Amino acid sequence: MLIAPASSLICPHDGAAMVVRGNSLVCPRGHSFDRAKEGYVNLLPVADKASLDPGDSKDMVAARHKFLNTGAYAPIASAVAEMATSAIETADKNGPFSILDAGCGEGYYLQALAAALAAHSSAADVRLAGIDVSKWAVRAAAKRDVPATWLVASNRRPPFPPASIDLILCLFGFPLWAGFAAVQPPGAQVLLVDPGPDHLIELRQIIYPQVRIVERAPVANADGYTFASEARVRASAHLASPTIIADLLLMTPHAHRASAEGRSALSTRATLDVTIDVTLRMFTRNAI
Ligand SMILES: C[S@@+](CC[C@H](N)C(=O)[O-])C[C@H]1O[C@@H](n2cnc3c(N)ncnc32)[C@H](O)[C@@H]1O
Ligand SMILES: [Zn+2]
Repeated sequence: MLIAPASSLICPHDGAAMVVRGNSLVCPRGHSFDRAKEGYVNLLPVADKASLDPGDSKDMVAARHKFLNTGAYAPIASAVAEMATSAIETADKNGPFSILDAGCGEGYYLQALAAALAAHSSAADVRLAGIDVSKWAVRAAAKRDVPATWLVASNRRPPFPPASIDLILCLFGFPLWAGFAAVQPPGAQVLLVDPGPDHLIELRQIIYPQVRIVERAPVANADGYTFASEARVRASAHLASPTIIADLLLMTPHAHRASAEGRSALSTRATLDVTIDVTLRMFTRNAI
């Protein structure tokens, strides 16, 4: 497949199409956004920021980056690539097929997807973009060698024209369906990846006095979307050092929830084998 960065972007203030001028993106009304030296553009209006430094912190992003680069979650990346490849092949579009990683974090999954698609023999033309509200995440993602457009932006209002995105990936993230619907045509898809009941169960058994087994929520249709299919990844990962274990804790919501005793019990572990249990659910945008 041919892989290239997404090029159709709209102004976050007025929705007008933006063009590249020098090192900036500009709209016809004069709003201008500079490209950072790492190559990403910050399109998050101050009014859309929930805080001064929204999204994952610098430390969380650094921990996720180190952890994912160990390859421990490679089975998840492969499953995502498999579902995305099949969506591209089924769509069989004449023009480019656009994929948006919504809440892309530090870019591990979009990089793995780009590599998998580039190695695929079909002639499909694929455009890639990743957005995240955390500038730390987008900065780290833009440093990866991926032919993708990286933007600081929110899933609440992805800065793309209506009906321009064929597949949205929302991995361990925050699906904001109205924002997704605003950029997808009927028939387009959203792939949600979420933890299953046994995900990281061994780590949870160490940090919590009692592990809550959260049963999988029944599959429901989302706002404007219909559930289409589901796959599950089960694998195990060997975490070979206390640093890797600490990075995994820091990148998950468990870092905030664990007690001091739980964290200290985990810190005594030299290695840890953990279960990976995630669900991948595909949703299709309804006809309007
Ligand atoms: C658990 S992390 C997952 C990151 C990445 N998808 C992964 O699996 O490695 C959730 C991400 O969503 C981002 N985020 C939070 N609210 C968001 C929003 N409204 N729009 C886009 N991204 C958001 C956070 O900054 C963080 O990077
Ligand atoms: Zn504008």
